[in-house]
Amino acid sequence: MTRILAIETSCDETAAAVIEDGRRIVASVVASQIDLHAQYGGVFPEMASRAHLEAIGAVTQRALDKAGLDYTKLDAIAVTRGPGLPGSLLVGVNFAKGLAMGAGLPLIGVNHLEGHIYALWLMDAPPVRFPAVALIVSGGHTSLVLMTGHGAYRQLGATLDDAAGEAFDKVGRVLSLPYPGGPNIEKAAQAGRADAYDFPLAKPDGTFDFSFSGLKTAVIRAVKAGPGHHVPRGDVELRSDIHVPDVAASFQKAVIDALVIKTAAAARAYKAHEVLLVGGVSANQALRQAMETRAGVPVRYPPLKLCTDNAAMIGAAAHFRFIAGQRDGLDMDVLPMWPIDALPAPARP
Ligand code: KG4
Ligand code: ZN
Repeated sequence: MTRILAIETSCDETAAAVIEDGRRIVASVVASQIDLHAQYGGVFPEMASRAHLEAIGAVTQRALDKAGLDYTKLDAIAVTRGPGLPGSLLVGVNFAKGLAMGAGLPLIGVNHLEGHIYALWLMDAPPVRFPAVALIVSGGHTSLVLMTGHGAYRQLGATLDDAAGEAFDKVGRVLSLPYPGGPNIEKAAQAGRADAYDFPLAKPDGTFDFSFSGLKTAVIRAVKAGPGHHVPRGDVELRSDIHVPDVAASFQKAVIDALVIKTAAAARAYKAHEVLLVGGVSANQALRQAMETRAGVPVRYPPLKLCTDNAAMIGAAAHFRFIAGQRDGLDMDVLPMWPIDALPAPARP
């Protein structure tokens, strides 16, 4: 049996978890900074690292207390090494190094995107059948990835500009919905008509890439008051006849259509057995439904709590690297840009 303490601080959640065998969550604690960043309408990087620093000790202790364990009962310390905000990553990685050194435990650096995928291993479900196509959609990432085995990835496409979650958050702000925009747009969209606006699909043709900035601009153009109105930092004065639920529903449909069309095409092209839908935006029920209807193969997504950032998924990914022999040195650096297909596949144990 392996028991891993995992730490995650790549963006705006400070999280720690204890995971057994890469499958069982013994304890998982997530301290969100949403209230802190809500006043800025987005993540404020310097504030994020300071908040991680303040929270990380207590969050980790709470995870160990909940698990009823101390360091002598652990096999390794895992931590998100990247991609993410450099200052935020540094807090987690340095803290994890301190724990590893103090407790004499091995250190394992984990790719955050791989972590999102391994949230799927924390469910009671039959094993994933490879090859699978993974759509990683979050506030920082939108990538289509071919997964051919544990730790073996090929990136098929990615966003050329904004991430899907970022587009949700920006449009949410334009519509004066609370931060983060994703869940609030989903809520507003339930009372709206998805065919009220004909927004452009976020999908440059002939590739597996995405682009969401044109869609965002189209939404702003459709809702803002007066021609040539100056738009300070995305805050827009809305036209008086705007029905926010209609805009939310039409925008959400445009994002979902692009994600589903590209993912289904990739699944066909690479003869995938399954589609893995992961990351914060995979919490979106309309996206889940559309993907299940149109992907052409079975679709898996994590339970809601494991869609957005958490440390349990980092511990699950770390397990497979740990049993394959991965150990990182105490001189391990952070990798703020770390494409998932730059990862070495773990050696077979
Ligand atoms: O995975 P995550 O916690 O952080 C990153 O790794 O980026 O994802 C957060 C993102 C935010 O942009 C948030 O608006 C979006 O996920 N999100 C959603 C929903 N819940 C969270 N987007 C659409 N619909 C949702 N229900
Ligand atoms: Zn994430």
